[in-house]
Amino acid sequence: MIIRVVSKKGTLLLKDSRESLVIAAAIIKKGGLVAFPTETVYGLGASAVNAGAVKNIFAAKGRPADNPLIVHLSDSNQLSLVAREVPDEAKYLADLFWPGPLSMVLQRSEYIPAEVSAGLPTVAVRMPDHPVALALIDCAGVPVAAPSANKSGRPSPTSYRHVLEDLTGKIDAVIKSSICKIGIESTVLDLTGRSPLILRPGGLPREDLERALGQRIGLAVDKKNCLQPPSPGMKYRHYTPSAPLILITGRENTRNQVLKNLTRYYRKKGFAVGLLNISFQQSLKSSTDPEKLAAMLYGCMRKMDTAGVDIIIAEEVGITGIGLAVMNRLKKAATRVLRV
Ligand code: TXA
Ligand code: MG
Repeated sequence: MIIRVVSKKGTLLLKDSRESLVIAAAIIKKGGLVAFPTETVYGLGASAVNAGAVKNIFAAKGRPADNPLIVHLSDSNQLSLVAREVPDEAKYLADLFWPGPLSMVLQRSEYIPAEVSAGLPTVAVRMPDHPVALALIDCAGVPVAAPSANKSGRPSPTSYRHVLEDLTGKIDAVIKSSICKIGIESTVLDLTGRSPLILRPGGLPREDLERALGQRIGLAVDKKNCLQPPSPGMKYRHYTPSAPLILITGRENTRNQVLKNLTRYYRKKGFAVGLLNISFQQSLKSSTDPEKLAAMLYGCMRKMDTAGVDIIIAEEVGITGIGLAVMNRLKKAATRVLRV
């Protein structure tokens, strides 16, 4: 039975102290929903072995029923509990990169109900690199299923304030903690096929995985409208601000000119224009460091929503390291890509 710990209207705001984590863990054990920080983005957690609680995650987020969740562990030894078999590659990568922003897709064991994986025979699993997340999972005593703690379709939350914006009254509690240092979701790596395949570029750079495995690693082609994409999440337009976003790609000089022209054009029409990269750069004092861009991306998108901009214009970023993930999110958020 699912026990709602607080009334429908209330969402408990918890500190990240030991006492609060015990309360948060008790909520999870009883089948409730708790948003918690990770090093990537905030997650919306429920017991991964409680099918009813997992269904409530989908309801709270308004998440399409066919988009599976990631299972979070506090100890890599629990891998054999959630996966039917653990290939050597998975053990090796867990040793190298966990705790950290790598989710591995493996064959799902019967311990994890099908609801977690939206009916797929596989399961995505990771061990987050955040002391609060690890303590919470450990204290709950079960693996924790958690998608990003945003309303479906909105940019992922990198602060507890973003979680409250989207989910107040829909979840039992939020743990108030430091911001998420990476700021972009984990890399999802499928290890169930003939060769490893990146389903979603993320916090762990492709180059690091290639170096570790000593081979080139493919990137699943992003087809928004394909019926059976390798990862169900790929077919949804998500990570998005409310305003339409134009992404300008191509040669730098031409990009700058097109950016200026477009900005002038929309301003003349009376539109409030949000310049995403400029907003990064102002906050970063002109840095274009991809790690910093990743850490700020979703916060900037949300700020533009709050400011009520009518249109957002963004420029491409380099795709080395975490830049690949930033560019992936920009493309997904874009209503239009202008190649110049
Ligand atoms: O960093 C992260 O990964 C964050 C934090 C909270 O851990 N979580 C996160 O979860 O981003 P979510 O639900 O927003 O994204 C999970 C992605 C989706 O694109 C989903 O389709 C894919 O992982 N995924 C999950 N399980 C899968 C599976 N069994 N097979 C293929 N793709 C899977
Ligand atoms: Mg998400």
